Amino acid sequence: VTTASPATAPAASAADRVPVAIVGASGYTGAELVRLLSQHPRVAIAGLYARGKAGEPLAKVFPQFAGLPDLGTAPLEPFDEAAVAARARVVFCALPHGESARIVAALAARHLTVLDLSADFRLKDPAAYAEWYGTPEHPHHPDPELLQHAVYGLPERHRDALRTARLVAVPGCYPTATILAAAPLLEAGLVSPEGLVVDAKSGVSGAGRTPTTATHFSEAGEGIRPYKVAGTHRHTPEIEQELSLAAGRVLRLTFTPHLVPMTRGILACVYATPTDPTRPAAAYHEALAARYAHEPFVTVLPPGQLPDTSFVRGSNRAHVGVAYDARARRVLAMSAIDNLVKGASGQAVQCMNLALGFAEHEGLAGPAMFP
Ligand SMILES: NC(=O)c1ccc[n+]([C@@H]2O[C@H](COP(=O)([O-])OP(=O)(O)OC[C@H]3O[C@@H](n4cnc5c(N)ncnc54)[C@H](OP(=O)(O)O)[C@@H]3O)[C@@H](O)[C@H]2O)c1
Repeated sequence: VTTASPATAPAASAADRVPVAIVGASGYTGAELVRLLSQHPRVAIAGLYARGKAGEPLAKVFPQFAGLPDLGTAPLEPFDEAAVAARARVVFCALPHGESARIVAALAARHLTVLDLSADFRLKDPAAYAEWYGTPEHPHHPDPELLQHAVYGLPERHRDALRTARLVAVPGCYPTATILAAAPLLEAGLVSPEGLVVDAKSGVSGAGRTPTTATHFSEAGEGIRPYKVAGTHRHTPEIEQELSLAAGRVLRLTFTPHLVPMTRGILACVYATPTDPTRPAAAYHEALAARYAHEPFVTVLPPGQLPDTSFVRGSNRAHVGVAYDARARRVLAMSAIDNLVKGASGQAVQCMNLALGFAEHEGLAGPAMFP
């Protein structure tokens, strides 16, 4: 694990900034990329691409950018791979899975550095992709060879590989929160890979901008409900893939996601069985604190303090906590992130910083927005 320098180098001149493009700039993660990249000292936004909203100025689709120099009037354009390749060196793809895979392959062939926010390049096993994401029209992964070159974009787990990555599969929001909480305990052999239970909650922006009955205010605004339970949520194999690597053996777990009435945030609680029930409770906190001591974006909360999505909102930070229930002999590892930042666009920028050799915190150092 390396430490990103907290010192901030002077911003690059306009000519030295790396040109970046955002495909899917009319969606929630796309807008979050615009927000973060427009404040990044070493890049310049060189193109914004959309599908149905192409032809509109950005500020018409997202009024939060109105009046900002160069941004508010910037056009959303229809995607054109030749135009993207002519303008940009780095491309963020914030499209639905399936759509992304086709575009990513075309951009990678033009030697651009690609950060894909969809699930299309996250599962290393093409058979797993076919099982979880295959459709009657597209039963298989469109580019299994390219899949093998993709690096799973969780810097806290794959930092060295990200430094030379040309295609980054930016993790899902639930997997980011879950893996950050549980992986160090599995890796250190403190908890058993058997019988893990992940109970997680997400804000409604996790479902993207297109409204559905389930995300309608009057359906989601005052209740909380589990969904896609019993091994049916597509983030299950992704979490299992990465926690299996941490545990050093294949594991299966129970993942229960919930939709909660808030806009942003993921809270993941992982229930695990200790490998030694007589181990002192402090050992779990010490293991997490040691593992994340030099991480720029992960804070291990002091014993007794519990993560809360309110205190990471709008930031690229993850708050991790752990407790030991000696009565029930269960370890409880918890984490809170903002699904649109550390769970998507902020993490993508963090990966870009590594891939381009920038300091890891650049453009991401700001604190959370509270209250
Ligand atoms: N939301 C989250 O918290 C989150 C977290 C992690 C990862 N992700 C992943 O990030 C990706 C984007 O998510 P989002 O929440 O930003 O979604 P979103 O708000 O629904 O935006 C989707 C974007 O994709 C474009 N698009 C939709 N269908 C398309 C198609 N058939 N062909 C080309 N472009 C199409 C849309 O363009 P128009 O609106 O102009 O048609 C829009 O720009 C998804 O793969 C999602 O799973 C999301």
